[in-house]
Amino acid sequence: MMGSLLSVSDIKDDVKYILDLAGKIKAGEIEEKPLKDKTLAMIFQKSSTRTRVSFDVGMYQLGGRAIFLSSNDLQMGRGEPIYDTAKVLSRFVDGIMIRAIKHSDVEELAEHADVPVISGLTDYEHPCQALADMLTVKEHLGDWTGKKICFVGDGNNVCNSLLLIAPLLGMDMSVACPKGYEPDDEILKTANEYADENNTEITVTDDIGVALEKVDVVYTDVWVSMGDEAEAAQREKDFAPFQVNSDLMGLANPGAIFMHCLPAIRGQEVTAEVIDGPQSVIFDEAENRMHAQKAVLYYYMKD
Ligand code: CP
Ligand code: NVA
Repeated sequence: MMGSLLSVSDIKDDVKYILDLAGKIKAGEIEEKPLKDKTLAMIFQKSSTRTRVSFDVGMYQLGGRAIFLSSNDLQMGRGEPIYDTAKVLSRFVDGIMIRAIKHSDVEELAEHADVPVISGLTDYEHPCQALADMLTVKEHLGDWTGKKICFVGDGNNVCNSLLLIAPLLGMDMSVACPKGYEPDDEILKTANEYADENNTEITVTDDIGVALEKVDVVYTDVWVSMGDEAEAAQREKDFAPFQVNSDLMGLANPGAIFMHCLPAIRGQEVTAEVIDGPQSVIFDEAENRMHAQKAVLYYYMKD
């Protein structure tokens, strides 16, 4: 199928189908090498461990191959237009995965590419992360419907994608963030529409106690995302009360799980006690990047 995955909204009607497929792929229940002889170009404008390795290994396991392209080495890094890059790569490969600084650049790439474009994170969203996270939630909590996830910290790209996916799966979501660090208005508007359609609730508040009420999943991410480095000192001050520690975990339901997209900084957004403790599912979550993305690759690139 054609189309691209830039936002969770792009797969609004197929989120459950893709997650179900991810579960089947993880269980080894699909045909051998469905992407035989297919090639994925992977453009990285920012660092990555999980995204790079999980897409590369995922393509290999599906019978295809991936090509790593650092934007520093591409002609794009020297100013070749995105339009030309999209057209040229489309003549060589069957799909393009891109981790970009600006979401609008990925929109432009997808507009002109003749093959599917999959976002591996922009400053606005991280849809593959959200899919992996929801696969992990289902594995640990049994279901999504009626459960509640709380994102604590910066209303960033990871938070934005979770805000879109949670209501589509029947989950309530709260965001506990300091004033001035709320998620994007457009995202909130869409998330609230999805919540209305699915009878779920979205709450954004700087009151940690309110946000953590009846929560089954406590999620956090770094205070300083890639690109925000200049604000690091201010952010460390502003986010200090939002550190996920044992006291904060104590406000969630007993048995709540702790999640983090990684990389994490122990002692900043989360204490070692929590991230390395019994409620943490971070490595299952990281592993699920590959299973979820194999489902995405299958969905977009299989003939
Ligand atoms: N969570 C995530 O996207 O990790 P990487 O930055 O290592 O790819
Ligand atoms: N919010 C983080 C996520 C990293 C996977 C960032 O954009 O740096």
